[in-house]
Amino acid sequence: MYHIKTLNKIAPVGLSQLPKEGYAVSDGEEHPDGILVRSADMLNYEFPESLRAIARAGAGTNNIPIDRCSEAGIVVFNTPGANANAVKELAVCALLLSARKIAAGSKWVNAQAADGVDVTTVVEKGKSQFVGPELMGKTLGVVGLGAIGVQVANIATKLGMKVIGHDPFLSVHSALSLSRMVHVTADLNEVYQSADYITIHVPQNKDTKGMVNAAAIAKMKDGVRLVNMARGGLVDEGAVIDALKSGKVASYVTDFPTNALMAAPNVTALPHLGASTPESEDNCAVMAAQELRDYLENGNIVNSVNLPAVELPWSGAARVCVIHRNIPNLLAAITGLLGKDNVNVANLTNKSKGEYAYTIVDTDQAVTDAVADELAKVEGVLRVRVLNH
Ligand code: 3PG
Repeated sequence: MYHIKTLNKIAPVGLSQLPKEGYAVSDGEEHPDGILVRSADMLNYEFPESLRAIARAGAGTNNIPIDRCSEAGIVVFNTPGANANAVKELAVCALLLSARKIAAGSKWVNAQAADGVDVTTVVEKGKSQFVGPELMGKTLGVVGLGAIGVQVANIATKLGMKVIGHDPFLSVHSALSLSRMVHVTADLNEVYQSADYITIHVPQNKDTKGMVNAAAIAKMKDGVRLVNMARGGLVDEGAVIDALKSGKVASYVTDFPTNALMAAPNVTALPHLGASTPESEDNCAVMAAQELRDYLENGNIVNSVNLPAVELPWSGAARVCVIHRNIPNLLAAITGLLGKDNVNVANLTNKSKGEYAYTIVDTDQAVTDAVADELAKVEGVLRVRVLNH
């Protein structure tokens, strides 16, 4: 029986991927093999010894201490693309919110009605204070062309916008999905200098934190409109507040409100609604649960942010899964220890990602606990699991 702890509400269709006869799933599991999470803050979470994997039902993993997970041999999964359509739709809404004075206008109508005014008598006179420009013909800068950025860039071309995109890690898949009308530049400054609207779609990590700072904003056009549906920490809040006050930034629409931002002019904030649609909650939950299950039952790793993608069809009698450092002689040590116990390797695969690597060995004979214990003691080995077919 596998034990799965949920740290957020996970869509039932996702949980149904984990059959009741093999999985106990609740928010109270004390010795979980796996965790299913959305945005719950795990940065100070103490990992139980039992924990082997964390599946993030969503894209951003800045709420998970990735380095600590890697050192503890815990695989962290996410669900790239599963909520991209929901975020794309909200990003389009955010662009419109940043241009047209929709939120302020709506607030004004509500206030009139609350004051007992017959709103039909005031709208035509009142509307002139809420004039805002159109998107068509303007230039949109898209920073980050992953699953979401590509969709936002493509739909913006359909709205008649000129689109310039930047992504230093542009994947072949993203490049192939991108409209030919999107101009891709290797120079982020070109985006900053030419865009009337800028939308950010990059993960928040140590390289991107605070990337929209005073220096970046200084390169932008006067009156630029910023959209941030990605993560609050990508923007240096003090810098954006100063720019809003001076008018350098005409409007900032964000899914990540703070009290300081709410006191600044021309901020429209939403309560992190990007992926909050039934469709994307279902998609993310299904994908996360399937990834977790495939890892726990088969040792396969798909869509991990800290370990390489490794899949191996079953062969042989047992499967040894080893998470280890990406250093010389580890493979020889693993096969050597198995050989010493007369265990024959039926099939083997090994891949690395940065400082870490993962090896799956299918064996023709059963692997004893003693051999697994010996493997776990090898210098550089972080986690050993033996699975039986
Ligand atoms: C994500 O990172 O996938 C989105 O920001 C959605 O986060 P959520 O699952 O907490 O809504």
